[in-house]
Amino acid sequence: MPGVAQTSVDEMLRDAEAAAKAGVGGVILFGIPETKDATGSEGWNEKGAVQEAVRALKKELPDIVVITDVCMCEYTDHGHCGILRDGDGDGDVDNDATLELLAKSALSHARAGADIVAPSDMMDGRVQAIRAALDDDGFSSTAILSYAAKYASAYYGPFREAAESTPKSGDRRGYQMDAGNSDEAMREVFADIAEGADAIMVKPAGPYLDIVARVKSETGYPVAAYQVSGEYAMICAAAERGWIDRERVMMESLLGIRRAGADFILTYFATEAAGMLKG
Ligand code: PBG
Ligand code: ZN
Repeated sequence: MPGVAQTSVDEMLRDAEAAAKAGVGGVILFGIPETKDATGSEGWNEKGAVQEAVRALKKELPDIVVITDVCMCEYTDHGHCGILRDGDGDGDVDNDATLELLAKSALSHARAGADIVAPSDMMDGRVQAIRAALDDDGFSSTAILSYAAKYASAYYGPFREAAESTPKSGDRRGYQMDAGNSDEAMREVFADIAEGADAIMVKPAGPYLDIVARVKSETGYPVAAYQVSGEYAMICAAAERGWIDRERVMMESLLGIRRAGADFILTYFATEAAGMLKG
């Protein structure tokens, strides 16, 4: 993806510093482990990339909000967001066995100092499992931002290449939502709120603005919207060809997400857009 790369902890600190300087309020971290295995065990390694990155951020840039993405797909060798029931890679995820591992990962992020953990796996019951694990360990003030409305989307393509997390076989339709459903999204949202979610994420953002608006008006909870890699890549590509005005389309895409009701936006444009707003 243009302008997007895997970084070391040191490089990440420089990026985060530039973001903070531009006026960005927070960052979200995704980890790429040295080795992947069937259970994604690097996900809760206390010395893992995300855990080290959180510690470094808290030391060097204590004012920036640190969110960690909690999922298995970057850590599993099969690339699914949970562990597989039979190991045959057809995407038949063992929901309940995955919960314990997600909770372990989230707890290791909280121990490193994360302000917010953001489970993006879409397993049923994960918010409750994570909340219980955090509370039991004294992290009752670590917040949970739940990706409650996460659609099975073709817009994730560039991210999966960057994170080397494309499922080896099968797809994610077993646990991500169908693009045609909106009531199902609201059921997932209310279930996550009942389990203890502090804020709700809608993903992708642009093609799902009706969901952003519904979540905001029907729950009153803080709503985040994630402008994903494909949304970003399309704007960059069209702008590179001279077909659209990059800065204006970037700002208009973000304004639309904001107008729909998002309280905060996750976007690859964050540093650029914040700098423009400041200027
Ligand atoms: C999965 C995950 C996804 C993204 C980040 N984490 C979706 C997926 O691959 O199914 C995509 C984000 C993006 O496109 O920017 N936990
Ligand atoms: Zn995942």
